[in-house]
Amino acid sequence: MSENVQVVIRLRPVHTKTNFKVQNQTISTVEPPLRSFNFDHIFDTSSSQTDIPGELCSKYVLHALEGYNACIFAYGQTGSGKTYTMRGTNSNPGIIPLLCRDLFDALELDKTTVSSVSITYFEIYNEKLIDLLGDTSPRVRETNDKKTFVQDITTFKVNRVEEVLEYLSIGDSKRSVASTRMNMESSRSHAIFTLSIKQQEPDGSIRESDLKLVDLAGSERANATMGIDNGKRMKEGANINKSLSTLGRCISQLAKNSKHLIPYRDSLLTWVLKENLGGNSKTCMIACISPIDLEESLSTLRYATTAKEIKLRATMNEIVPNINEDMKAAVEAAASSRKELEMLKSEMSSLQSEYNIKSEQWKTHEKLLVRFNHITKLNDYLENQLTNEITKSQSLQNENKLSRLEMSNVQTALLGVVGALFSNNNHDTKIMEATKLVSDFDDFVSRLDDDIASFT
Ligand SMILES: Nc1ncnc2c1ncn2[C@@H]1O[C@H](COP(=O)(O)OP(=O)(O)OP(=O)(O)O)[C@@H](O)[C@H]1O
Ligand SMILES: [Mg+2]
Repeated sequence: MSENVQVVIRLRPVHTKTNFKVQNQTISTVEPPLRSFNFDHIFDTSSSQTDIPGELCSKYVLHALEGYNACIFAYGQTGSGKTYTMRGTNSNPGIIPLLCRDLFDALELDKTTVSSVSITYFEIYNEKLIDLLGDTSPRVRETNDKKTFVQDITTFKVNRVEEVLEYLSIGDSKRSVASTRMNMESSRSHAIFTLSIKQQEPDGSIRESDLKLVDLAGSERANATMGIDNGKRMKEGANINKSLSTLGRCISQLAKNSKHLIPYRDSLLTWVLKENLGGNSKTCMIACISPIDLEESLSTLRYATTAKEIKLRATMNEIVPNINEDMKAAVEAAASSRKELEMLKSEMSSLQSEYNIKSEQWKTHEKLLVRFNHITKLNDYLENQLTNEITKSQSLQNENKLSRLEMSNVQTALLGVVGALFSNNNHDTKIMEATKLVSDFDDFVSRLDDDIASFT
């Protein structure tokens, strides 16, 4: 949904006669020719420093916490109160410190959200980006979706408003200011302070937003800014006017909803603020007026009237975890795990059966081994037996040889007896002795044959 740039007017107090009167949301010239302008809100000369933050800070803190990019920028002629409105003084703090306080108070109250805040602070001086919190050389880059951002800039994470205030005063001390005829402490640069807020909800959703708080340099006529070092002031003034007139052309084309290319690139200021001027942002312009200067004030009021017409398309920068998608992913993951498990199971069962086969083979092998051992033992035993039998056989053979020798001796003795028998007269006695000898010899031979038969 589109929404217009919010424009509020602030009139700085005057000690002399004022050229404007304020009634509710209308500001008009006091003297003819009568000119009237309507705005969202007008803070007149009597407004205190705390009136404006009271109206704006809580609103823009809320936008940022909701996840919208937002921007508040102060515009107006030199000396009209832009820096006073945005930064203020120690005793009268302006929008930046008061908004930071509101932001940290809100974050402190929210106990369920995990938040982080980081800051950057830089200025655009003579068409150059200068890091006010470090010594980097920042550059403006464009994302693929045509959004611009500042690259290589010193960024600090902050946890308390006191830390922010310290960084702010460090940055302010580096900011380019000079004394001019119109303003003792005139800003010679555009200062852009950015709060980047990230919040994570317990459901996992994340909101991110950038809140830019901009104190522009003042629109000025050359003679208004003369003082010391006029050459330098002239150059600064020319660059300031160049960027402010580009801002004016961008605003006027955006207000007309022009189909032409918006000239953001024509100045660094509009290039940095591209998204806040014509894109995804909730933007507020504070037009500061010094009511004693009629022409400059009318010019600012016309500028502000045009800005009111700009339509923005702020969208919440929120990433919500998609439960359905998550569930789907979980189911898919479970299915693929199950598949893997099935594969592992079948692999395991094939390994098991292979193991079983192997273990059967092993068992057979073991059985064979047992038998082999048994046979080996049997073989050893038989070999042993055989050796014994051979030894026995050899001793029997030896015995046989001896027996045969003995037999030969007996035969010889027998022949002797037979010879004696035939030579002697005692015939019968000798026959009886010889018969006995023959019979003994037969017994002996028969025993010997039995022995040999049992062995073979
Ligand atoms: N509403 C106000 N109440 C009191 N003093 C104010 C107010 N607005 C501005 N001043 C004072 O007027 C002077 C100029 O204001 P400031 O520096 O804010 O102007 P500026 O718009 O920032 O000018 P420049 O463009 O030159 O930077 C300062 O001294 C400031 O304190
Ligand atoms: Mg200023």
